[in-house]
Amino acid sequence: MKAAIKKSEVLIEALPYIRKFFEKTIVIKYGGSAVEEKGIEKGILEDVIFMNYAGMRPILVHGGGPYISKMMKKAGLEPKFIQGRRVTDTQTVHIIDKALGTINRKIVKALKDMGAQAFGMSGRENGLIRVKKMKLEYDLGFVGEVTAVDTTVVKRLIKDNIIPVIYPLGVGRDGNIYNVNADDVASEIAMALKAEKFVLLTNVNGIMKDKSDPKTLYRTIRAAEVERLIKKSIIDSGMIPKARACINATKGGVKKAHMLNASIPHALLLEIFTDKGIGTEIVK
Ligand SMILES: Nc1ncnc2c1ncn2[C@@H]1O[C@H](COP(=O)(O)OP(=O)(O)O)[C@@H](O)[C@H]1O
Ligand SMILES: [Mg+2]
Repeated sequence: MKAAIKKSEVLIEALPYIRKFFEKTIVIKYGGSAVEEKGIEKGILEDVIFMNYAGMRPILVHGGGPYISKMMKKAGLEPKFIQGRRVTDTQTVHIIDKALGTINRKIVKALKDMGAQAFGMSGRENGLIRVKKMKLEYDLGFVGEVTAVDTTVVKRLIKDNIIPVIYPLGVGRDGNIYNVNADDVASEIAMALKAEKFVLLTNVNGIMKDKSDPKTLYRTIRAAEVERLIKKSIIDSGMIPKARACINATKGGVKKAHMLNASIPHALLLEIFTDKGIGTEIVK
């Protein structure tokens, strides 16, 4: 009996959140380092489906870092990253397209098998993601910086309760296909849709002052402070695009940006439907 009452309490705790987020757009990026060839973890997809059936409008953006690196090595290419971004030549673009396409189909199929409607697409389709070549001190090759987002198709899908599953490629004005960091793509889509929430699921709990010490996790942090941590190299490698994505999202009209550890079971549900937040919350 006690256990049953406890369960009803958990459900009731979710009610204000269900009401608050009804018909609201939530963009979720699932980390490259947590995405395998076989797709993504069932628990994450269950959370996304739960949100969908509770009346929210989740949009899933995924990467596929390790699988891309594996495919590159198979083709005799050595993966190289600069400031958390993959150096990308013509051959690598094709490998990325193929690898992410494979993962995308698996995710869409898994969502459908679990009873949701889902639609997979690449950022290069329907003008979704337009880019220009990213200019850093180093030449990254075909790495794009987002210049425009056309969310016509995505909007139509979420209105019809279909979960868009997107992988991050973009088209340049030169007609070339560019590799775009999934964090960037997700934040641009979140901004274009003025999403209620932007959630980055990754392989750490969030932003840490000392990344080797989980106790130094920032629970809430302001965009300006994040900027400072990047300058001081406390935030480095893959956390740089992630942190910037959150800064941009909050400045661009997204209500809240979160980072969560994808390996915590049902991290998404805990973050969205309960009173206790986990991970790092980035505010303006
Ligand atoms: N200050 C920091 N706090 C937490 N993680 C950090 C920090 N600085 C760098 N990182 C690194 O960023 C990584 C996450 O980025 P990345 O590997 O690109 O993940 P994803 O595949 O989810 O995009 C972490 O695993 C961690 O090693
Ligand atoms: Mg990354």
